[in-house]
Amino acid sequence: MTIAIVTDEPSAWHTRELRRAFVARGHECRAVDLRQCRIDLSLRPHGLFLPGFPRALPDAAFVRGVPGGTLEQVVLRLDILHALRELGVPVYNDARAIEKSVDKAMTSFLLHRAGVPTPLTFAAEDAACASRVVMKELAAGHALVSKPLFGSQGKGLERIDVVPASPPLAAGVAYLQRWLPPCGKLFRDWRVFVVGGRTVAGMRRESRHWVTNVAQGGKPHPVDLGDAEHADLAHWAAAASRALGMDYAGVDLMRDPDGRPCVIEVNGAPAWKGLQGVTDLDIAGALAEDLIVRRMIEPRAITAHG
Ligand SMILES: Nc1ncnc2c1ncn2[C@@H]1O[C@H](COP(=O)(O)OP(=O)(O)O)[C@@H](O)[C@H]1O
Ligand SMILES: [Mg+2]
Repeated sequence: MTIAIVTDEPSAWHTRELRRAFVARGHECRAVDLRQCRIDLSLRPHGLFLPGFPRALPDAAFVRGVPGGTLEQVVLRLDILHALRELGVPVYNDARAIEKSVDKAMTSFLLHRAGVPTPLTFAAEDAACASRVVMKELAAGHALVSKPLFGSQGKGLERIDVVPASPPLAAGVAYLQRWLPPCGKLFRDWRVFVVGGRTVAGMRRESRHWVTNVAQGGKPHPVDLGDAEHADLAHWAAAASRALGMDYAGVDLMRDPDGRPCVIEVNGAPAWKGLQGVTDLDIAGALAEDLIVRRMIEPRAITAHG
C-alpha cells in the first residue's frame, strides 16, 4: 500500500521516522505538501490533485502537519484533507479532529463537555467582556494565562497578574485561562502521547520558566505511565483524545494545587522527537502500526464480514 505523509518537511526527522516505520511494514511512502495540492474538477474521477499521486489516490494519509498561512490558505489545505476523507481515504488525524484541536477555545469547550478536567477558560471577542473577566478573576485571587487561539510550542503566552493597560486580545480574540500555580520550586507539566486511544508514552517537562514546552527550554524527563502516580494522568489523556476524536494526540496535563489532574491542551499534529529521547518505545512504529491495523485492515475486515 502507498501512504501519503502530509508534511511540508519531506526530509525532516519525523518524516524519516515515519518512512522507516511504514517501509519496515512493507508499505511505500510519499511526502505530500498540502500547499501543492489542488481541487481540480477537470481531473476525473475525483477532482483532486495530489503531487506524487497522478493516477490513484493514496491508500491512507498520515497528517504530520498543516502549514500555517492566511485563513483562506489554511481552509483550502484542510479542504484537501476533508476531500480525501469524503473519497474514502483514511486520514490520520482526520481534518475534523485537527480543526478541533488547533483551536484552543473549541478544545476547552469539548473537554469540558466530555467531563474531562480542564482549567476554567474564557474565550470572547468583546474587549470589555474580556477586561471584566480579568478584573473578576484577579479580584478572586486568580492569575490568568492569555494564549493565542491557534498557538503552539509555548509561543505568545502571557501571564496576567495585574490588570493590563489594554484588553488582553490577540488577533482580535481573548482566550483566557485560569493560571495553575506550580506545586514545587520548578514548573512542570506532563505530555502524554495517545495512539489509537492508548497512552503509549509520556514525559514530565520541567523548567524554571512557567512555560515548560521543550521548544521554550523545558527539560524532558521519562515517566512510566504504568506507575500508580501517573494512572490519573494517563486516564484523562486518553479521555481527552477520545473527546476530540483523535487517532493520535499529544496531550498536555498539569496538576492543580490539590494534585488533581487538568488537561491543558490537545495537540492534533504533535511532534515526538523530545519524547522519543526519553522512551524505549518506537513511537513512529506505534503510529504506523495503528494506522495500518485500526484504520485500514480492521475496517476492511468489518466490511468483508458485515
Ligand atoms: N493554565 C495554565 N496554568 C499554568 N501554566 C500553563 C497554563 N496553560 C499553559 N501553561 C504552561 O504553558 C505551556 C504551553 O501551554 P499550551 O496551552 O500547551 O500551549 P502551546 O500550544 O503553546 O503548547 C504549558 O505546557 C504549561 O507549561
Ligand atoms: Mg502545549
